[in-house]
Amino acid sequence: MKSHIPVLLDEVIQALALRVNGTYIDGTLGAGGHAEAILKATAPAGRLLGLDGDPQALDIAKETLAPYQDRVILVRSNFTQIYTVAAAHEFIPADGVLLDLGLSSMQLANLERGFSFLSDSLDMRMDNRSELTASEIVNEYEEKELADLIFKLGEEHASRRIARRIIENRPISSAQELAEVIERAVGRHGKTHPATRTLQALRIAVNHELDNLEVVLPQLAQVVGKGGRAAIITFHSLEDRIVKNFFKTTRDWRNLTKHPIKPSYQQTRENPRARSAKLRVAERL
Ligand SMILES: C[S@@+](CC[C@H](N)C(=O)[O-])C[C@H]1O[C@@H](n2cnc3c(N)ncnc32)[C@H](O)[C@@H]1O
Repeated sequence: MKSHIPVLLDEVIQALALRVNGTYIDGTLGAGGHAEAILKATAPAGRLLGLDGDPQALDIAKETLAPYQDRVILVRSNFTQIYTVAAAHEFIPADGVLLDLGLSSMQLANLERGFSFLSDSLDMRMDNRSELTASEIVNEYEEKELADLIFKLGEEHASRRIARRIIENRPISSAQELAEVIERAVGRHGKTHPATRTLQALRIAVNHELDNLEVVLPQLAQVVGKGGRAAIITFHSLEDRIVKNFFKTTRDWRNLTKHPIKPSYQQTRENPRARSAKLRVAERL
């Protein structure tokens, strides 16, 4: 399976101002790429608590982090539970928290999970214990509800036309079939696949991504001690806006990135997934 290249790795390590023997929480463990770098930099006794809602991610991270196993605790949990999990494992006060939002390359590449245009399913849950799937939204929502969701969460201007065609072509059983319906509805212009924004909207809705972000942000100040850092990587403007506004208005944090840190040209060439990444960093006051 395609391995995941950590995005903005050097930038994250610098942003967290890692302390030797420090205590860190990675709320989106994925393949453990960032986590591994944090553990290396905080040797010999730095500790890391890693959370992910996806059991497949945890299995991969467990292997990646095996050399550090006595300094690592991995928990299957949504990061909306970060305070409870951190308290239970005595990770408060932490010296820093990282959130690297969105999908890993393994999730995207696993066609059974329905995240890619090539997928033969229409699931899109990062955590398979949650109830809502993309199939339910695509095949059961009313036309207006579907159009509004695609417009709001996908920032897709052809949302009404797309919703109409989806309704006409139901039932739709795979992301591949959905992508074809959308391509027939709106045509193909430029390099990006015409279904990209609709798939994004479905994924955000299925995984409650914006709500989760709103829930986790206020908890970070309860978890990170004074002088500690929070580093958050987002991949689309809706998420970035939430993070930006949060750090701008909170009294608990000093915003260290007036403008977000973006990957270099070189990095986006080597890792196309990094293209839309934005890193924001703050220090706990
Ligand atoms: C971009 S990947 C992280 C990659 C990781 N930084 C690395 O270097 O390997 C994002 C991960 O966060 C997980 N995730 C996304 N939203 C989550 C949430 N609300 N709670 C827990 N895990 C979440 C996904 O399942 C995915 O494995």
